[in-house]
Amino acid sequence: MTLLTIENLNVSYRGSGRSAHILDGVDIEIGHGQSVGLAGESGSGKSTVAFALLGLLADNAEVSAAYAAFDGRTQDFAARETASLRGADIAMIFQDPMTALNPMFTIGTQLVDIQRRRFQKASRKALWARAEAVLADVGVQDAAARMHRYPHEFSGGMRQRVVIAMALLVEPKLLIADEPTTALDATIEAQVVDVLHRLRQRTSASMLVVSHSMGLIAELCDSVVVMYAGTVVESGKVADVLHRPRHPYTRALLACEIDPFAAFDPSQDLATIPGNVPDPSRRPKGCIFAGRCPARHDRCSEKPPQRHAGDGRPYACWLEAA
Ligand SMILES: Nc1ncnc2c1ncn2[C@@H]1O[C@H](COP(=O)(O)OP(=O)(O)O)[C@@H](O)[C@H]1O
Ligand SMILES: [Mg+2]
Repeated sequence: MTLLTIENLNVSYRGSGRSAHILDGVDIEIGHGQSVGLAGESGSGKSTVAFALLGLLADNAEVSAAYAAFDGRTQDFAARETASLRGADIAMIFQDPMTALNPMFTIGTQLVDIQRRRFQKASRKALWARAEAVLADVGVQDAAARMHRYPHEFSGGMRQRVVIAMALLVEPKLLIADEPTTALDATIEAQVVDVLHRLRQRTSASMLVVSHSMGLIAELCDSVVVMYAGTVVESGKVADVLHRPRHPYTRALLACEIDPFAAFDPSQDLATIPGNVPDPSRRPKGCIFAGRCPARHDRCSEKPPQRHAGDGRPYACWLEAA
């Protein structure tokens, strides 16, 4: 049984003019204890998937899914039912740790409060001790003293460790990390990746790692879902997708991955792919990638279905899989 199944997820934003169709038929499956990466350039809709999952999309978002289930229970995305899973069943680590921290309270107080929903009868003392132990565990030195400090007294990397501790303390079934290291410089990034990596081996929680970096996903995930302009172009086991990519977009994405741990510059477009990501309010009728695809041919004016080359590894391209 899988922990999370989403079939045919669609998200549109109603605007003053035409509506923008941001996610087009996204399928995602995460097994118990499995770590899945969501890859793709900036703007491809990765955070939209994460936010839809948490019921956090803006009010003008229209969400629908053919089928969605979490831990054996169906979920109505349109009614934002999954919002009730947030904080206890699903925890999230954002790119900017300050999103999750309150500047007004000490780290200790926040790490205690986050546990309240799950451990309602525990004493403050017990929750404090538990928080201190987890804080030390994610590599915060001198955790006992640090518990009494405020977020601004921590460096960016240390704050992200605090947020990871926060996520761990609620013992979620699913941990979503959205660009968890993108705001950090390279050395600190490597350390935080290391913390996530150890955590990955230790917890039984499933993970969804959202990142533009295939390197990070390769490090932390069992399988990967590659997105382009709100569409899943390919998915499969990390080793298969990395070594035998089937979609021309995945190939281009991998070719751009010069240094997976280099700081991300969102203004820098994929150097080897000419053209731009299509405007979500004007999605082309055929293949979403055709306008930039080096292997484009006549058939591509028709939308490719999710195909399987006999091994159940889906990709959306008219080319025969290698
Ligand atoms: N509230 C909104 N209204 C309209 N468009 C939005 C809104 N929020 C996000 N978008 C659009 O959704 C697209 C996907 O964004 P996002 O999910 O953040 O991508 P990623 O996380 O892959 O960088 C972008 O084109 C973005 O401009
Ligand atoms: Mg994002």
